[in-house]
Amino acid sequence: MKRALITGITGQDGSYLAEWLLQQGYEVHGVVRRASTENFERIQHIRDRITLHQADLLDQLSLISVLQKVRPHEVYNLAAMSFVPTSWVQPVLTAEFTALGVTRMLEAVRLVDPSIRFYQASSSEMFGKVKECPQDENTPFHPRSPYGVAKVYGHWITVNYRESYGMFCCSGILFNHESPRRGKEFVTRKVTYAAARIKLGLQDKLKLGNLDARRDWGYAGDYVRAMWLMLQQDQPDDYVIATGEMHSVRELVEVAFDYVGLDWEKYVEIDPALLRPAEVDLLCGNAAKAKRVLGWEPQVSFTELIHMMVDADLKRVQKEIAAGRSDDC
Ligand code: NAP
Ligand code: GDD
Repeated sequence: MKRALITGITGQDGSYLAEWLLQQGYEVHGVVRRASTENFERIQHIRDRITLHQADLLDQLSLISVLQKVRPHEVYNLAAMSFVPTSWVQPVLTAEFTALGVTRMLEAVRLVDPSIRFYQASSSEMFGKVKECPQDENTPFHPRSPYGVAKVYGHWITVNYRESYGMFCCSGILFNHESPRRGKEFVTRKVTYAAARIKLGLQDKLKLGNLDARRDWGYAGDYVRAMWLMLQQDQPDDYVIATGEMHSVRELVEVAFDYVGLDWEKYVEIDPALLRPAEVDLLCGNAAKAKRVLGWEPQVSFTELIHMMVDADLKRVQKEIAAGRSDDC
């Protein structure tokens, strides 16, 4: 039986990847950091089928110990400080988690068992001020946030361990991917949650930043399959994972509000505080290499994704209302 270790298992991608690996017959282990209250909401439904270990990307020894204990065949390094605006507020901590954390994981792998296959969660945010459209594996990087800069470091250190030590290290350059499990601070979920709350009479305004920003949004469930496929190949390599379709934040809002029968322009307000010090205006990926080599293709369209998220939020908010506890917004 194959064993996999996932850092960031409590996050959106970690939860979908754990499900996928269980379906493939893996023994699944996850790294969690201690918190005063557990945040295992996304993995609650599989909690009794996975094993959790305490460790932290900031603590080298904890990473070595967990690898020695689990002896995985594959490591998926998904843990990171993943919210772009916070990276301007905590740039040093972002670099510790999102950049140096990758080296700590790679060093732990090299020390414990360099034959472990390693996946690094790289990001389209590395393309930043894009040099060409669409972006592929050869497009130069120009990151626009401390988060993007940290991810560029994580990408290159992964490539470097492959080239320096012959380790099986892959960097997946994933474009934005969303789901009903997306954190509420990211724009898709912020919009679908607000559409549900406004529809159900719990909220009357939605404050947003730049409506003109354009992203290539896919479904997280599709994207974790690509992570796994990368580690099943004969040779390690880097891949762009994207839908190849671009939509603006304005279109996203329109699709979500239309779906619940509301005119978005009556509810959305622009809040200058939500504009970023440096914006990534557009991202659109070319995943031709992933299609050719991995046989990977996305299965959920943009509209299906947003409808799926609105449906899930309507259900959740209705449940909260029934239980007498709805968030204040
Ligand atoms: P997410 O929901 O924010 O999850 C991040 C995970 O990292 C959480 O489990 C978090 O644990 C963990 N973590 C953070 N700092 C840690 C530390 N110091 N030690 C151990 N664990 C730590 O993010 P996601 O959307 O699933 O994304 C997964 C990865 O893919 C991230 O690296 C992200 O940067 C990258 N990525 C995401 C996208 C996207 O569109 N979703 C696109 C490209 C790349 P807690 O629960 O304890 O906070
Ligand atoms: N979060 C947020 N909140 N974004 C807003 C808002 C708002 O109120 N209004 C407009 N936006 C715009 C942002 O300015 C940005 O251009 C776009 O919506 C998407 O923002 P996010 O959903 O926060 O995602 P992101 O693109 O910054 O980063 C996500 O994707 C990256 C891959 O490109 C994250 O998942 C990163 O971890 C990931 O690497």
